[in-house]
Amino acid sequence: MKSAVSLRGIIAIMCGSVFAFLFIQFLPPGKEAMKSAGALEEIRKDQIVKPKIPQSLKLEHEELHAELAKAIKAGGDTGSAAEVVAKLLHPHFVKEEEYGLPPLGLLTQLAEGKVTPEMEGVLEMTDKLKAELPRMLEDHHNIVAALKKLSAAAEKERKTEYVRFAEKLMSHAQNEEEVLYPAAILAGEYIKLKLNK
Ligand SMILES: [Fe+2]
Ligand SMILES: [Fe+2]
Repeated sequence: MKSAVSLRGIIAIMCGSVFAFLFIQFLPPGKEAMKSAGALEEIRKDQIVKPKIPQSLKLEHEELHAELAKAIKAGGDTGSAAEVVAKLLHPHFVKEEEYGLPPLGLLTQLAEGKVTPEMEGVLEMTDKLKAELPRMLEDHHNIVAALKKLSAAAEKERKTEYVRFAEKLMSHAQNEEEVLYPAAILAGEYIKLKLNK
């Protein structure tokens, strides 16, 4: 009788221990655990690749901006026409520098066959560019129309350097439509394929 009682006692202690163990395992995480989970999340975010716009394209944008500012200062009808171009061009450049051109910063690595999981971060940009493409092309259409007016005004006022500037900016837009935007979108599609996204 006595041994049966002590056996029951041992079983009860064992069950209690198992229950306590399981209870601790499934407790909601405490503040410290939550903090370290947050830190991990941050590390992951830090590791996401945010590519930079290739230097050559950044310089080209800066140069176009500077020349446009000069055209505005030239005054007359040329200056007024340049102001119209600037109003259309500024928000367009902001969009390009936010999500249109940075994916091109990965092209060198992609061409070398290097694809890493951290590159997934660029897909947000390339998906946005793909979705916004019709509006980007519409921006170009309006910018080119304004540039034709700038070119005509500069021609009339014999400010030929701004005729050349207008041609240069039109050619920049054409290059983006034919090469750069498609290349940025393709970079995203390629990363998706390689990462099975
Ligand atoms: Fe551009
Ligand atoms: Fe553009």
